[in-house]
Amino acid sequence: MKEKVLIIGGSAGMGLATAQQLIKEGFHVIISGGNENRLKTQAKELGNDCEFRVIDAKNTPDLRNLFFSLSGLKHIVVTISVRANASGIAQTEELDAKQAFERFWTSYNVLHFAPEFLNRNGSVTLISGSSAKTPLKGYGVWGTLHGSINSLVKQAAIDIAPIRVNAISPGGIGLRPDRQLVEHKGQAEDIAKMIVAVITNRATTASIIDVDGGERQGTWSG
Ligand SMILES: NC(=O)c1ccc[n+]([C@@H]2O[C@H](COP(=O)([O-])OP(=O)(O)OC[C@H]3O[C@@H](n4cnc5c(N)ncnc54)[C@H](OP(=O)(O)O)[C@@H]3O)[C@@H](O)[C@H]2O)c1
Repeated sequence: MKEKVLIIGGSAGMGLATAQQLIKEGFHVIISGGNENRLKTQAKELGNDCEFRVIDAKNTPDLRNLFFSLSGLKHIVVTISVRANASGIAQTEELDAKQAFERFWTSYNVLHFAPEFLNRNGSVTLISGSSAKTPLKGYGVWGTLHGSINSLVKQAAIDIAPIRVNAISPGGIGLRPDRQLVEHKGQAEDIAKMIVAVITNRATTASIIDVDGGERQGTWSG
C-alpha cells in the first residue's frame, strides 16, 4: 500500500514540484489549494496517484474537516504562500504583519491536529526561509515569520513526537542568484528533492534544512 502525503499548497511552486517528486518515489499524494481549476488540471497531469481537495487552509474548521475527510495519512507538507503587504517592521502596519503570519497559524494548526490524524511514524514538513538567519533591512516581517516557524519546528518536534517535524529553509528561489554562493539558480525542484529526503529519512526531526545556495551567510551584503 502506498504511503499517503497531503500537500497543503500543492497546486503550484514548491508544493507541485514536491507532488511530482513524491509520485516518482512511489507515494500517493493529495494536493490542496484554493483554486479548483488549477488543482483539477494539475491532478490530471499528475495521474492516478494524485487526488485533490479545495481548501482555504487559513480557515481552521476547513483544515480540520480536510483531515477528517482523509484516512491513513502518513505525511503532511505545508507550502502555502500568503499575499501580504509586508516589508520592514517600521514600515509594516499590524494588520499587514498579521496577514503575513497567517502562514505561521496554518502551520501551527497542522501541527496541533497532527497527533489526532497522522500516523505516529509520519512527519510534518514546513517551509521557513533564509531571512530568519540573515536579518535584512526591509524584510523584518518575513524574517520574524521564518524565525517563528523555525522555533515552532523545534518545539513541536518535542510536543508531538514520535511524529517527525522539520522545515526546509529556502533562499530566494530563482529570485536573487546574486546573493548566493553557487552558480546554480535555485528552483522549486531543489526544495522538493529536500522535502522528499526529509520525509523518507526516519532519523530526521527538529531540523531546519537550508536549501539557499549559501544565501544565509550574507556574504553579498558586506
Ligand atoms: N520562492 C521563494 O524564493 C521563497 C523563499 C523562502 C520562502 N518561501 C515560501 O515558500 C512557500 C512556497 O512558495 P512557492 O513559491 O512555492 O508558492 P506558490 O507558487 O505561490 O504556491 C503556493 C501554493 O499554496 C496554495 N495556497 C495559497 N494560499 C492558500 C490557502 N490559504 N489555502 C490553501 N492553499 C493555499 C496555492 O494555491 P491557490 O493559489 O490555488 O490557493 C499554491 O498551490 C511560500 O510560503 C513562500 O513565502 C518562498
